Amino acid sequence: MSDRDDLEIILRSHYPLITVNTFEETRTVNLFKRIAPLVDLPLSTWTVTDGLDAVVGDATFNPSELRLVGDNPPDTATTSTADPEYALRVIRDAKQAGIILLLDFHPYLKEPVHVRLIKEVAQDHDVRRQKLVFVSHAIDLPPELVRYSASFSLRLPNMSQIGRIVTEESAIWAAQRGGDNVRVDREAVSALLTNLTGLTDTDARRMVRNAIQDDGAITGADVPELIEAKRALVGQQGLLSFEYDTAHLSDVGGFNHLKQWLEKRRNHFMATSAADSDVPKGIMLLGVQGGGKSLAAKAVAGIWNIPLLRLDFGVLYNKFFGETERNMREALQTAEVMAPCVLWCDEIEKGISTGDYDSGTSKRVLGTLLTWMAANDKQVFIVATANDVTALPPELIRKGRLDEIFFVDLPSSAVRKEIFAIHLKKRQLDPARFDLNALALASDGFTGAEIEEAIVAARYAASANDTTATTELVLNELANTKPLSVVRAEDIERLRRWADGRTVSAN
Ligand SMILES: Nc1ncnc2c1ncn2[C@@H]1O[C@H](COP(=O)(O)OP(=O)(O)OP(=O)(O)O)[C@@H](O)[C@H]1O
Ligand SMILES: [Mg+2]
Repeated sequence: MSDRDDLEIILRSHYPLITVNTFEETRTVNLFKRIAPLVDLPLSTWTVTDGLDAVVGDATFNPSELRLVGDNPPDTATTSTADPEYALRVIRDAKQAGIILLLDFHPYLKEPVHVRLIKEVAQDHDVRRQKLVFVSHAIDLPPELVRYSASFSLRLPNMSQIGRIVTEESAIWAAQRGGDNVRVDREAVSALLTNLTGLTDTDARRMVRNAIQDDGAITGADVPELIEAKRALVGQQGLLSFEYDTAHLSDVGGFNHLKQWLEKRRNHFMATSAADSDVPKGIMLLGVQGGGKSLAAKAVAGIWNIPLLRLDFGVLYNKFFGETERNMREALQTAEVMAPCVLWCDEIEKGISTGDYDSGTSKRVLGTLLTWMAANDKQVFIVATANDVTALPPELIRKGRLDEIFFVDLPSSAVRKEIFAIHLKKRQLDPARFDLNALALASDGFTGAEIEEAIVAARYAASANDTTATTELVLNELANTKPLSVVRAEDIERLRRWADGRTVSAN
């Protein structure tokens, strides 16, 4: 099935109203031009600048047929169909069948008179076969019109169509240069193709052209720029933020099982075609505060070398950003555009907890997320983190939703040693000069975050005395800290009991 087939089916059906939410107006209009003759209907367009205009076939909407009512009927000789109300009246009263593309009509859908006129056209559809098509980037039909409408969306180009775009744009460049061929690096082209999926035809073409134009070549150097351009396209959104700061494997101590799990799936995730139902969907990292869950989420993007998008639930519920579920849907669509990517839902229980004040809204947001997850066949890998299981909706963690729930427990002695080494190195301190065994022994019950804090504090203490940090100074800080595992021992025990049998260990 192609765009053409889809549209033809809609046009042959009995829907009087059709919405096309798109930024690609020219492509849409061209598509209608090709299809209108097939369904035997003339085609007109309407714009606020030019009013009604016949495009294909003979569609005259004759103002002389206008039913004139009221005290101040418009002067049919001088009024222009650029006036939306007048245009709708002319359409409604004309005996003329046809498809009318209303381009950028969305601001006028707020007027009750317009809504009423559109509804009357819709109700008369079986008699007069007039089809109103709303084409714009933000069509939101009022509920009383929705029942008369079908929506149509242009398909996004698939990998082989993008391949064709690359070939076409290369040929154009070559022709301009009198036969110089575009130099291509196979690997770069394949990275380019992966990163361009999810974009519209127009955007993909523009990006390919930009990649070629500067140096007549598609090379590895074009890929980061392309990701950046894609980011800019996406960055118009408040809800999703693009995190530059991803982490590397070497920044994370422990998490050995998670690391292996990710390594095993990397190739499959990157190679998956959109049609593959086995594409890894995502994971949940559940565990103690300061255990490195957020860090590990960043590392997933770092290990797979794909962009990291963070979904900010705080913004989601901010009333200034408009309707919550719609925001959520748009954010998820944006993530699809950025695919392959990691969608990081940090502290997800705060966004969609069960027992909370406006459970109505957060339930619907959860519903939106679950529906999307079930249908998600794009390379969008969810990494959700949480530390309060009691607030987690059971639907979310039911088997099959996510690939795995990893439990992040307090680090073992061996892992603590690793974490000490990582954070000492990070601060230009040589781990070989420290007694890691003694430090690991003294930090039983400490989280990664607490270990890092002890090192930071020891450095302060040292610099106050004009020396550098030593094992003794760090031991001293550890001795003076009451770790969370002591302060909140019961919470952690409860968490462990819950995790037992329901989760696998991240370590
Ligand atoms: N396993 C670890 N390896 C290396 N560093 C770690 C580890 N765990 C924690 N850290 C350090 O502690 C910091 C805080 O950890 P992080 O924010 O990732 O924990 P968290 O589990 O997300 O905590 P919270 O539940 O409070 O959000 C990290 O940025 C990192 O510097
Ligand atoms: Mg965190």
